[in-house]
Amino acid sequence: MNREVIIPPLRRIQGVLVPPADKSILHRAILLNALAGGEAVITAREYGADNVNMIAIAQALGARAAVDGDSIRMTGAGMRPARPPAGILDCGNSGTAMRLLAGVLAGQGFGSILDGDESLRRRPMARVTDPLARMGARIESRQGRAPLTIHGTPLRGARCEMAAPSAQVKSAVMFAGLYAEGETQVVEIAPTRDHTERLFHYFGLPVSAEGYTITTRRVDGWPACGVRVAGDISAASFFIAAAALARDGSLRVEDCGLNPTRTGFLEILSAMGGDFEAAKPGVSAGEPVGTITVRSSRLEGVNIGGEWVVRGIDELPIAAILAAAADGETSIRGASELRVKESDRITLIAANLRALGVPVVEREDGVDITGIGEWNGGEVDSGGDHRIAMAFAAAACRARGPIRIRNAGWVETSWPGFFTTLGRLSGENL
Ligand code: S3P
Repeated sequence: MNREVIIPPLRRIQGVLVPPADKSILHRAILLNALAGGEAVITAREYGADNVNMIAIAQALGARAAVDGDSIRMTGAGMRPARPPAGILDCGNSGTAMRLLAGVLAGQGFGSILDGDESLRRRPMARVTDPLARMGARIESRQGRAPLTIHGTPLRGARCEMAAPSAQVKSAVMFAGLYAEGETQVVEIAPTRDHTERLFHYFGLPVSAEGYTITTRRVDGWPACGVRVAGDISAASFFIAAAALARDGSLRVEDCGLNPTRTGFLEILSAMGGDFEAAKPGVSAGEPVGTITVRSSRLEGVNIGGEWVVRGIDELPIAAILAAAADGETSIRGASELRVKESDRITLIAANLRALGVPVVEREDGVDITGIGEWNGGEVDSGGDHRIAMAFAAAACRARGPIRIRNAGWVETSWPGFFTTLGRLSGENL
């Protein structure tokens, strides 16, 4: 994880990228099959440590999971596993794993403990334990932080009005709703990624959405279901940006998820004048899938806020790199959530851009960036955050000198092969 990587200036990003399996969808597919009855195969390529931890947790809950290349053959433990997990369930770096599991474990007939690494132990968990408590859940935390000690208890349905947009919190309540007496509703304030809704539907679980309200209810179980997980648009965005930035950029991204609740980054790139097309010819496990082609682009600054932030929350670090290359000013606002991701991404974006010589002003809920076209090399730090490491690797496409990335090994969280892929598409030996 502490590995240092030095990226030379990259002139070229060319070829075909088939991105790793969508991390969000794979988390949910593992969890749903872990708690199902029967056997099914999940197909997913090149996933990282977050999803590997989720597989280990499924096994600790009594499910079987046999990994063979791109396939995960799962045998479910049923929605109420017979035995409590033997030890603490380690979610590693993954907020999604911890929050979704809190929803699933709250209504079990046994107790369990969820923990994670240093970064995850710093992240707010009251946002998920509070709505679950309204359903009757008994969860102890360390002042709203992990570890979470969950005393399984019968749950009752509730109507949960979300305080902020969060697909993780929405999903935790939806999972808990499968165990709760009666009906459970989540009322969103802005539409967040709807993978849980789509997968519930795909697995035949009760789910309906009307406006911003999602309704589910108690079930007695569900059968295992094969899921082919398409490519992760969040992972792809680093290369889409790299190709747009490179002087010699021409990239085709294949089998990429294009769920409209996830394409905020493409909306931002389009508003900046990016030269790309996205075609959506297919569907995989209820999710739209397609191809994105992108070429070297001349970009202009934009104001990023509102729903672009919700639909592109994980892509704001790479959007900041585009902003640094664009003509004029870019502002990112309404994004204070970035401070409680795997790192404080606002502080790290600002500090690392500054280290490259890009003028940036840090705000409470975002940053202002003055585009300068290209920049010096320099030394940056991922702060233990996979997306910061990948965003600043892509920044090498407009650098005059090498970029040294400290703590670059954290790319393992979501994409262990990231630097190998960057080497292949750029023609450099990384
Ligand atoms: C995710 C939801 C988002 C996102 C995270 C994955 C999910 O988090 O940032 O990377 O899979 O539900 P929030 O729910 O905290 O916004």
